[in-house]
Amino acid sequence: MDTNTITEIIILAAGQGKRMRSKLPKVLHCIAGKPMLGHVIDSAKELDVAKVHVVVGHGADLVKKEFDDPAICWATQAEQLGTGHAVAQAMPSVDPNSIVLIAYGDVPLVKPSTMASLIESADEDTLSLLTVFLDDPSNYGRIVRESGKICAIVEEKDANEEQRTIQEINTGILAVTAEKLQEWLPRLSSDNAQKEYYLTEIIAMAVKDGMKVIAQHPDSVMEVEGANDRLQIAALERSYQQQQALRLMMEGATLADPDRFDVRGNVTVGEDVFIDVNCVFIGEVSIADDVTIGPNCIIENSCIGQGTVIKSHCVLENASVAENCDIGPFARLRPGSVLANKVKVGNFVEVKNTVLGEGSKANHLAYLGDSVLGSFCNIGAGTITCNYDGANKYKTTLGNNVFIGSNSTLVAPINIGDDGFVGAGSTVTKNIPSNQLAIGRGKQRNIAGWKKPVKS
Ligand code: UD1
Ligand code: MG
Repeated sequence: MDTNTITEIIILAAGQGKRMRSKLPKVLHCIAGKPMLGHVIDSAKELDVAKVHVVVGHGADLVKKEFDDPAICWATQAEQLGTGHAVAQAMPSVDPNSIVLIAYGDVPLVKPSTMASLIESADEDTLSLLTVFLDDPSNYGRIVRESGKICAIVEEKDANEEQRTIQEINTGILAVTAEKLQEWLPRLSSDNAQKEYYLTEIIAMAVKDGMKVIAQHPDSVMEVEGANDRLQIAALERSYQQQQALRLMMEGATLADPDRFDVRGNVTVGEDVFIDVNCVFIGEVSIADDVTIGPNCIIENSCIGQGTVIKSHCVLENASVAENCDIGPFARLRPGSVLANKVKVGNFVEVKNTVLGEGSKANHLAYLGDSVLGSFCNIGAGTITCNYDGANKYKTTLGNNVFIGSNSTLVAPINIGDDGFVGAGSTVTKNIPSNQLAIGRGKQRNIAGWKKPVKS
């Protein structure tokens, strides 16, 4: 391919996917939290293709709604008359001078590099086809060769007994010029066992036109595996997760068990990271060097600074955690939690939209919402920031070295100055100036000679 050639991709996604037994169109079923079609679109985008065409049919409206992306060029195939017919629906908006890569919306794990090498090897004289060899080739289109050269693809239902023994199969993914597609597609016939317009018929046409048809192979079979039912979805999911686990291990993370580890987004790790079993990482997550994450944590759109320890059963969402913090077990950091260095957030502590300054601690059973804490504050067990009056949210602000005694309620809006001190069990409704002790609770009375009630 010459470097000035534009490339476009046509993704076929009109099929129903009956075997999914689902209200959802097949291509919206997810691998690693992202619809299968989304994986294909994202891989295509990595290649810098000029246009992404998606052919939709079954559940077209749902699919379009899911990918509300102006970069996608939608084509509708009202009736599923075959893969060749599907490609034809996209052709009116394909640049006639482009190289076209054809991919399937239900084959989600094709690597961008695999797509790129197909595109690179296609030109006006060459059609480039992605094929693999399978021990069990049944149901696939077989690659028919003569004297080693590809001369046709024959679908299983149309194949004779000898052809059915061929183990090289058509993945469906290919690259060819738009010009040739325009020439060939109107000539497809549906005179075959399935009465469909097969795209695969273009192979014989290419050979007849004196073109070279070459085969390329993916790095692994999983790359070209499609999903027709939920079992295959699960297999693809595991394969995807194994790849993620492998990548993180290569980057310096020890995984207690690479088979009990899930990434649904993009995770980056530093060196000497330890991740225990059953952790789930969602969205954009970055983990610095020397971080330890205990079992059963869910970490979403968060960054974790060097040397931080997250103990078991923590849930972090849109949180930013600096270095050498100590979190959990059973801590919940909700969106807007910002922890400076050496912060401790212990068990059953919920933090939301709150900044904790360096070295501050909330070790047990607390709710900190819409707050800003200075450095080295100590939040006693059972402390609640009352940030909501039923209509509006208010802010709690603590200076440095503030001590909040256990079981206190801080009724926002409220300000506590540096070195402020709150006696245990207080309900604090007024600001506390620096260096003062506030006690807001009923005075204790001891009643001498008190008699216990007795049963009558
Ligand atoms: C197709 C290939 C076969 C190949 C196999 C690989 C043809 C004729 N056969 O077979 O050689 O081995 O894929 O998986 O191309 N689709 C549409 N509109 C249609 C028909 C299909 O959009 O009218 C889409 C489907 O949603 C799917 C893809 O095209 O994403 C492939 O369709 P499918 O029915 O699975 O193709 P096969 O018959 O399995
Ligand atoms: Mg079919």
